[in-house]
Amino acid sequence: MPASASLVRLSEYTAPDWRVSSVEMEVDLDIASSRIRTRLTVHGDTDRPLHLDGEDLELLELKLDGETLADAHYRKTDSGLEIDGVRNGSVIETLVRVKPAENTKLEGLYLSGAADTGFLLTQCEAEGFRRITFFPDRPDVLATYTVTLRADRARFPVLLAGGNPDGAGDLDDGRHWARFVDPHPKPCYLFALVAGRLQKISRAYRTADGRDVTLNLWAEAGAIEQCGYAMDALERAMRWDEQTYGRNYDLDVFHVVATHDFNMGAMENKGLNIFNAKYLLAAPDMSTDDEYRHVEAVVAHEYFHNWSGNRVTCRDWFQLSLKEGLTVFREQSFSADMNSAPIKRIEDVSLLRRAQFTEDAGPLSHPVRPSEYREINNFYTATVYEKGSELVRMIAGRLGAERFRKGMDLYFERHDGDAATLEDFLAALGEANGIDLTPYLAWYGQAGTPRLRALGEYDAAQRRYTLTLRQRTPATPGQPHKQPVPIPVRVALFDRGGAMLPLQLQGETEASGHERVLELDGVEGEFVFENVPAAPIPSLLRGFSAPVVLEHDYLPEDLATLLRADPDGFNRWAAGQQLSSRAFDALLAGDASSAALRAWCDGLASLFDDTELDPALLAELLMPAAEIELAERIEQDVDPDAVRAAREALLHHLAERIGGDRLESRFDALQSVASDDLDAASQARRRLKQAVLRLLHGVRPQAALQRADALHAQAGNMTDRLLALQMLLRGPQADAAASAFRQRHHAQPLAMDKWFAAQAQVAGAQTLDRVQALLHDDAFTLRNPNRVHALLGTFARSNPTGFHRADGAGYRFLTAKLAEIDALNPQVAARLATAFNGWHRLEPMRREAAHDALATLASGNDLSRDLADILQRALE
Ligand code: PHE
Ligand code: ZN
Repeated sequence: MPASASLVRLSEYTAPDWRVSSVEMEVDLDIASSRIRTRLTVHGDTDRPLHLDGEDLELLELKLDGETLADAHYRKTDSGLEIDGVRNGSVIETLVRVKPAENTKLEGLYLSGAADTGFLLTQCEAEGFRRITFFPDRPDVLATYTVTLRADRARFPVLLAGGNPDGAGDLDDGRHWARFVDPHPKPCYLFALVAGRLQKISRAYRTADGRDVTLNLWAEAGAIEQCGYAMDALERAMRWDEQTYGRNYDLDVFHVVATHDFNMGAMENKGLNIFNAKYLLAAPDMSTDDEYRHVEAVVAHEYFHNWSGNRVTCRDWFQLSLKEGLTVFREQSFSADMNSAPIKRIEDVSLLRRAQFTEDAGPLSHPVRPSEYREINNFYTATVYEKGSELVRMIAGRLGAERFRKGMDLYFERHDGDAATLEDFLAALGEANGIDLTPYLAWYGQAGTPRLRALGEYDAAQRRYTLTLRQRTPATPGQPHKQPVPIPVRVALFDRGGAMLPLQLQGETEASGHERVLELDGVEGEFVFENVPAAPIPSLLRGFSAPVVLEHDYLPEDLATLLRADPDGFNRWAAGQQLSSRAFDALLAGDASSAALRAWCDGLASLFDDTELDPALLAELLMPAAEIELAERIEQDVDPDAVRAAREALLHHLAERIGGDRLESRFDALQSVASDDLDAASQARRRLKQAVLRLLHGVRPQAALQRADALHAQAGNMTDRLLALQMLLRGPQADAAASAFRQRHHAQPLAMDKWFAAQAQVAGAQTLDRVQALLHDDAFTLRNPNRVHALLGTFARSNPTGFHRADGAGYRFLTAKLAEIDALNPQVAARLATAFNGWHRLEPMRREAAHDALATLASGNDLSRDLADILQRALE
């Protein structure tokens, strides 16, 4: 491993010596070689030299206040330039050359697509602006931008940068120019430009405060027809932010551009969002229902950043969750309003458990606000995003809707145009309401998932039910001792018949309401309910009121009661998950007659024909947690084959209990009324069809495959077709189905990603051969992040029995590929490497094989800082 890069520490933050008030850029764009002239007006009250970050830049000119700087007045350092003699109000001018077509990292200015047909674009967050020009590349330096783009008109007919348009025209030699002015001060990570042959759809939008805005969605020819859904979603998001937070858009135009070459999901650049095509383009023949919802969610997320992130940005990258946790929370609320709220909550919580709880339990565990990093790119994590959102949700819940809005108003008003901290956020929310929220800071600084133990005791003589809550957070790397954190526990009590009881806490004069939020603010708390007629069944942590692991010794029949009768759809699901997880534990230990298994199967068998139940919720109820989440229940010596076998047994028992006939006829009934429409009812039916077909496959594989075959041939929507393909890949028609799908979709990159992923996901040791063969498919390339994640990411993350095959070949395969990918694109390699996350807890043979593969990779010489950081932490 190379000498480890230096640590950046939150405790060492200091305000910048020099600030930049305005940036003027002139960019001459060309695929092979682009030139960027930048003039910075800087301010400071110091004698210290001015430091400008720069990376992979060829410096052609450097001037201070109009004079070319002599060599003696500046130095090139490892990270950029150091310039002497700068004064308050000085203007620094640089001219640099960069090579977009050679930029495989997809950070800075790069080429999307082929050299003759593709387009140029930028990606700056977190530290990519320094790959475009010399600049103090830190989010607390905010400036206004005037950007002039120049390029050949035929090759680059469309020129875009963030801000309002400020003129355009022709130059000689077939070139043209366009200028953009962004009046809102912004950090450089929000800078963006795009140039090339793009098409657009436009819509006129008037904001609530009366501004006329042109919304433009841009894509390459052939894809522009697939932007309509995103445009509608954008308009919904804009209206929602006006109504819910009183936030209006603030420029005359809003551009969104789709690219197939992108490291992340999407980017909120001011006035010029850039999207991974998979989160912008949608079409019935190409996109699943899930993908439609993702498009809606990501369009909203990026738009919401205009306030939570752009108008109010982060002081430093340790505060990343200030914008990301908050914006995820805003998106989750929006999506819940647009769709089914309980289903949205179920999806978000299962993602949290699958991605964040597992991250928090492994070597890469870190707080929502980390205290140090080597490479900030590695902190765009489930913890910063998803757990960060849960923290905002807890605080919003603590305040209640009205006070939360009041607090948010103060936050936006107080910090508009500013770079803020998490303390600022809590202070604004608290001060607006006279409430001290500083105890919540403990959540931000502490890694690990708290365990919440609940003990219930009923005193029949006193008619009193005492709930004792106790918290404990397991140690995480570098944080052996944990403090208690405030935990809001939303609670209801049920009688044995499944009716909710009115609640009267000790000290209250009479019973009122059926739900309470108990605030646990120390290690232990006791909550006494009075006038409880009989021993109740507690429904705890309703709606997942805090991101903790709940431990309560429920009787299986009590969980079955909640599964049947809790009006909180989320907690119904949570009760079912607890039952199935316990049944899983038993099956793993060889016990197929556990009370939990029986209660789960019986409960679902009787709900199966309940016509009142939303089919989407039923679908969620029928599916136990994913293998990777179930594996978290095992302390040590995880055997992924045993995990899968136990989970399959779980599904088999359920399918048998429901019965093959009922599964077949339910599927056929759903299919008989199927449409390809996107309305909620049609989507819910498709979701249920998936669950039913998977169950059916366990008991009557022939019957399931027959139906999958018919579905594959007839489906007019991607949700059904992909389900059919996934099923068929497990049977004798695998090759035929794969080639039929390939033939149909070979020209659609987003559909081809699903084709690769579906094959990588087929469980079992033999899939490695398939994945290796697919590397040689004409459509595969290590240069495209989506393709890499589709094939290799799916294999490593969503196919435990494939990746973790007992002989360790999966590990050696992946690490060999990681070395190749790292040489092209460090961010993609580092992200993929996190698939090794749980390796410590594997059984000894696999553990050793995984360790050896990681150690071999880590001993290589030319590792990027990104990958080296992940490996170092994973191996510690
Ligand atoms: N800021 C983006 C978002 O969450 C994510 C992103 C990070 C994109 C870094 C690109 C680079 O909305
Ligand atoms: Zn974001």
